[in-house]
Amino acid sequence: MSLMTATGVDAAEKIDLIIDADPGVDDMVALLFALASTQELNIRALTTVAGNVRLHKTSRNARLAREWAGREEVPVYAGASTPLLRKPIYAEDIHGKEGVSGITVHEPEKGLAEGNAVEYLVNTLTAARPHSITIAMLGPQTNLALALVQEPNIVQGIKEVVVMGGAHFNGGNITPLAEFNLFADPQAAEVVLNSGVPLTYLPLDVTHKMLTSDARVQKIAALNNNASRQVVDMLNDYIKADMERYGIAGGPVHDATVIAYLLKPQLFSGRAVNVVVDCGEGPTLGQTVVDWYDDLKAPKNVFWVEGGDAQGFFDLLTERLARLK
Ligand code: BDR
Ligand code: CA
Repeated sequence: MSLMTATGVDAAEKIDLIIDADPGVDDMVALLFALASTQELNIRALTTVAGNVRLHKTSRNARLAREWAGREEVPVYAGASTPLLRKPIYAEDIHGKEGVSGITVHEPEKGLAEGNAVEYLVNTLTAARPHSITIAMLGPQTNLALALVQEPNIVQGIKEVVVMGGAHFNGGNITPLAEFNLFADPQAAEVVLNSGVPLTYLPLDVTHKMLTSDARVQKIAALNNNASRQVVDMLNDYIKADMERYGIAGGPVHDATVIAYLLKPQLFSGRAVNVVVDCGEGPTLGQTVVDWYDDLKAPKNVFWVEGGDAQGFFDLLTERLARLK
């Protein structure tokens, strides 16, 4: 997105962004990626939700990412500790007991912002200029769903919601058909899908096309700053599970693709489609039902990203991590 200045120079307009996350290794990489991108992203806040691990750990991890990025001015608000209706599920087997496998955690100096993430979303989006704020959703969508239920008018402040979640061509990663974030809180995803906000999904279909390789990880390691060392240590541990499960030579860094999409959408391709999420208890719970061929002629509520330039993604990530200490 760009603006012409009085001198006719094309000046970039920053994206006003709230990042909602459940860190988690790939969330941590996404947060560092975003926090390093100060020229394009005006990060208003990080909001946290229970998901990969319990809320106090996802909130601590978000504060750790903020500390490593030297961005203590960005507030972190803790949100929902349980999904709307379902019993919480966690992914400690993939992300480790602390949510950040492969590294040692400490309690960051700076604490949480006062107040709750849901209240923050309601207040900020109500007061925002019309359609001015982008939300990156990197975990279960509970916080935004609660805010929408509490105050449906917050839609007025939202420009776009960019979600990491769902699966169609790829199949699921927590059940045969469901992806973790949608399975963890399908009812929340349904509230957001039905809200009328412009939605982009980066599902497993694309994240599984953007895999690490030894060469890609080595390039990050060669940066040899604190942030890159943490990223490499976390990734090397985290990717093992997917490499083993799928028999692939590298692992996906799901949530970081959302940040790449915001910074460089031209790296990605997709299609406007109708999407519903299955909320019925049973084997298809949490499945995203994607009308890729427009069979239903139903309203297109999601831009579904299906393809991407994997090397372009890793180059951009590496370039941004190089800016951190
Ligand atoms: C998603 O689930 C979580 O475990 C990851 O952080 C990512 O958001 C991938 O299915
Ligand atoms: Ca996540």
